[in-house]
Amino acid sequence: MKEIHDFTILERRQLGESYFSLVLGHGGMMQHIAPGQFVELQVEGEPKVMLRRPISIHDVDEKEGTMTLLIQIVGNGTRRLAELKEGDKLNVVYPLGHGFSLDLAAGSRAVLVGGGAGTAPLLHLSKVLKAKGVDCTIILGGRTESLIPVRDAFAAYGRLCIATDDGSLGHHGLVTQHPAFGEHYDMVYTCGPTPMMKAVARSAAERGLRCEVSLENMMACGVGACLCCVTDTDQGHRCVCKDGPVFDISTLKKWYQC
Ligand SMILES: Cc1cc2nc3c(=O)[nH]c(=O)nc-3n(C[C@H](O)[C@H](O)[C@H](O)COP(=O)(O)OP(=O)(O)OC[C@H]3O[C@@H](n4cnc5c(N)ncnc54)[C@H](O)[C@@H]3O)c2cc1C
Ligand code: FES
Repeated sequence: MKEIHDFTILERRQLGESYFSLVLGHGGMMQHIAPGQFVELQVEGEPKVMLRRPISIHDVDEKEGTMTLLIQIVGNGTRRLAELKEGDKLNVVYPLGHGFSLDLAAGSRAVLVGGGAGTAPLLHLSKVLKAKGVDCTIILGGRTESLIPVRDAFAAYGRLCIATDDGSLGHHGLVTQHPAFGEHYDMVYTCGPTPMMKAVARSAAERGLRCEVSLENMMACGVGACLCCVTDTDQGHRCVCKDGPVFDISTLKKWYQC
């Protein structure tokens, strides 16, 4: 069930120049959050920002009743959010959208491919998959080392592989050129810049691998009312906020083939 709540910022961490994370709690039980779902954040104190901003749920601690967000500073809204301090309140609508499929058997193999802020939803996903006994390979990519904000946390949930465009960390090249990407998997999950996700989807399709992508179309309402986030799928137009953000690539041939 969706809920609108004032959360308190329990912890704020700066991760390099352009990323920060926020741990949020409201002192009570949280709604169940599936990996790949997102929140809509109210940005207060910034007159240029009227609409809420969609942000993936990076991690969840059900026992503590907290969720963590990983945010890249890109414009007015995220710059204002970056000014929030521990103890401040943040108005959140959650949990939104449909998350990743979790119907993998224990012992099956999954690869999680993330780039930039798109690594955010993959941490909660890798944690849940590991608890199900799925063997996870996590491939994180970025232009350079400092643009891969979270690495160590992933290592607890699977084999961690890094690819950087400039070779400053891990494999020198794109995530799709990492040797681990070419192995066989029962499922490919990806979130990140659109060209990266399209390359991952094309490769998965060519190899006959099941694959899900998490789209990051521009959003406003986040609940399927304004139609501003619509994407053209093989089954017609779909709202990314309500019908996604996660889609199986078998419904997105038009999207990844262009
Ligand atoms: C489902 C979903 C999950 C996301 N998860 C994360 C996440 O976990 N971490 C993260 O750092 N970013 C995430 N994003 C992207 C994030 O929403 C945008 O970076 C943010 O809204 C930019 O706001 P701004 O005011 O700082 O930037 P603006 O100045 O408004 O714009 C800067 C850039 O952000 C993009 N953008 C602006 N508004 C929106 C919007 N309402 N929806 C989507 N994109 C927008 C624009 O393409 C523009 O290029 C997600 C987006 C979606 C749709
Ligand atoms: S953001 Fe309004 S319909 Fe998706």
